[in-house]
Amino acid sequence: MHLEKIKICNFRNYSPSEVELSPRLNILCGKNGQGKTNFLEAIAFLTLGRSFRTRRDEDLIKAGEKEFYLKGKFRSSEEDLILEVGNDLSRVVVKVNGLPYKSKRELFGRVRTVIFTPDDLQIIKGGPEKRREFLDLYLAQAYPDYRQIYLRFYRALYQRNALLKKLREGRRDLNELEVWTNRMVEEGSRVVLYRRQTMEEIGASLNHYHQLMSNEQETLHCLYKGSGSLPDTLDLTAIQEGFWRSLLRRSDDERRRGYTLVGPHRDDLQIQMNQRWELRVYGSQGQQRTAALALKLAMVDLIEKTQGKAPLLLLDDVFSEFDSDRKQELLRLLTVGTQTVISTTELKTTAALAGPLKLFSVASGVISAE
Ligand SMILES: Nc1ncnc2c1ncn2[C@@H]1O[C@H](COP(=O)(O)OP(=O)(O)OP(=O)(O)O)[C@@H](O)[C@H]1O
Ligand SMILES: [Mg+2]
Repeated sequence: MHLEKIKICNFRNYSPSEVELSPRLNILCGKNGQGKTNFLEAIAFLTLGRSFRTRRDEDLIKAGEKEFYLKGKFRSSEEDLILEVGNDLSRVVVKVNGLPYKSKRELFGRVRTVIFTPDDLQIIKGGPEKRREFLDLYLAQAYPDYRQIYLRFYRALYQRNALLKKLREGRRDLNELEVWTNRMVEEGSRVVLYRRQTMEEIGASLNHYHQLMSNEQETLHCLYKGSGSLPDTLDLTAIQEGFWRSLLRRSDDERRRGYTLVGPHRDDLQIQMNQRWELRVYGSQGQQRTAALALKLAMVDLIEKTQGKAPLLLLDDVFSEFDSDRKQELLRLLTVGTQTVISTTELKTTAALAGPLKLFSVASGVISAE
């Protein structure tokens, strides 16, 4: 599935405009602060139902205007798909092939999208929640089941935490807790199983991309680190048993603190370079960026494998901070496959790109094909 045409009205610094994209490679070029990231944000908003930069839709409305509106026409060999979203802050309008829906969440998952932005350095450097967010966003796109399981897990966790808090204040009895613990363990173990299977599944392509971009100098490995005890096997029952054991071990502590101390909401990924160095601690900025990008490219492969269709790939400012070798390898990678939209301030970086590509210049919220 690729984005054929997008209409952007009063979104960020864009006045109403319509853009036709290449099904392969698209390059947005412009100086700082002109609207390159905004354009990628518009595509991401249409396909994910939210922005990667803000949770507040009012930030997205062009200053001085009352509403924004986006419309994307997507095409694959089997179907056409039209996604629309608008918000005037009193009402969100969402349409899929012309049919209205109530929530922006309905946009999610119809067109898969992998995004890389400079902020993704946080997947390596930031706290565990950044790595969980990364996993959850792409697993939900790779496995349609995952999103439901994950939401059910969080609902159970939320209820269980509320109950633990009341128990601490002596306002509830223990029987109620068991109901929510059961549900949390059941859904949470499935979340863990999906996540761990995925880390095994993408291991080889993750390392492959990182090695390619680092001239075979560095290997990259990513391990799933449970907050409780995890079995060596990828077996649901064994994961559930481990979850129960860890909860029992921490139950006094939980009661004292009033919230759940083990589970997928506290798990993490350990990202290692050359099988030894934890990248978060020892990696240089360029190595960390390479790893973050390799993680995203591995997700492209995963989604293509599970969905049978490659996702859109949005790469914001991907060339900055890479040395010339890494840039060259990255350029080679980009000339194959999936529809890609890249933003850059330096057009000469991309001069080596071969194959069908479409070039756009972006200046003061106006985008035009070269
Ligand atoms: N709601 C809004 N209304 C009007 N302008 C906005 C709004 N939100 C952001 N902008 C403007 O959009 C511009 C930033 O756009 P964007 O982040 O896309 O830049 P960019 O081309 O990616 O630049 P860089 O190369 O620095 O990353 C800024 O000038 C900012 O003031
Ligand atoms: Mg930008």
